[in-house]
Amino acid sequence: MAQQQRGAQQQIPTPDAVGDMYDQFSELCLEMFAGCIHFGYFQVPPPASSYTDESIEAATDRMTSLVADQLALPTTTTTTTNTTTTTTGGGGPRILDVGCGTGKPARQVASLTGAHVVGISISQRQIELAAAPQQQQQQQPQQSSSIGGKGNGGGSRSGVITAAPVREEVSFQYADAMKDLPFPAGSFAGAYAIESLFHMGDKGAALAQVSRALRPGGRLVVADFFVDPAVGDDDLAPEHVAAFCHLTQSSGLNTVDEWRGLVEGAGFRVVEVRDIRRNVRRNYRVMAETLRQKALYAPEVAKGGLEAGAAVMENVSGSNKIGYLLLTAERV
Ligand SMILES: C[S@@+](CC[C@H](N)C(=O)[O-])C[C@H]1O[C@@H](n2cnc3c(N)ncnc32)[C@H](O)[C@@H]1O
Repeated sequence: MAQQQRGAQQQIPTPDAVGDMYDQFSELCLEMFAGCIHFGYFQVPPPASSYTDESIEAATDRMTSLVADQLALPTTTTTTTNTTTTTTGGGGPRILDVGCGTGKPARQVASLTGAHVVGISISQRQIELAAAPQQQQQQQPQQSSSIGGKGNGGGSRSGVITAAPVREEVSFQYADAMKDLPFPAGSFAGAYAIESLFHMGDKGAALAQVSRALRPGGRLVVADFFVDPAVGDDDLAPEHVAAFCHLTQSSGLNTVDEWRGLVEGAGFRVVEVRDIRRNVRRNYRVMAETLRQKALYAPEVAKGGLEAGAAVMENVSGSNKIGYLLLTAERV
């Protein structure tokens, strides 16, 4: 499947290179995105084109909630605006988190759905960080719940009302999603991949692995970047797209049609593709500002790299060419 490189030579990062990057920079990413490593979904109320004033934490939590909603597990009644989360838990379905980062999304999905979430990552450091709060938690008494059942302990946050957790059902392990996943066929009721597939040189192989691990009817939810060929190069020059891919260790951005083809080719039926690029655009600025701030106090040797990274994100921030999709599919 051809990937959109838009004129510039794109180097495909090896899994080891991606793992090394996250071993080194996970803590910086966590700072940037309030404890997880993905873009936030900001509300853009029509007809205004401006964002509401909300924190990156509320927005990243909302993105995870959206993914949880799309899994459509029987216990999930979450939505992203002014609703209450109710869950029933204990012995829930098993869900696979492909590229789990340091575990915040897995914990949130487990709390929202009552599922047991198994996270895999190509970064050993992330697995250590993901497991750390769990180890602490095992030594501490459980907190009691506050709002009608269990949830993520957040209370009301920018229109998302969640309930406090009774017990987290998560586990994490190191694995390369493009190789044989260490799980029996059909052992998961659902799976999601938040900004992980875009790193992978062979998305088809990873999706085939996920497909094998899912049982028929199980849902896959992908939150990831795409490139829009309908938007001209004058909106964002090919070298800026390439710089974005290089900085983020992307294997090359796919169009929406390519994403559909990849997912269908792995044995899924696409249920829905949502273009949410307007809702995520603010994240590029968040990244640029964080990198610029870091550059101010960084040792001389690191300043250049941080400032260059900020410039890449600033270039993308005004553009429509790099989009963001929420794709939901069902294992055939
Ligand atoms: C942008 S981070 C997203 C982390 C997490 N999904 C979140 O939302 O916080 C990308 C994740 O994909 C993982 N990843 C990239 N390539 C991978 C591979 N080949 N196998 C497993 N995980 C991979 C990284 O280790 C990292 O956890």
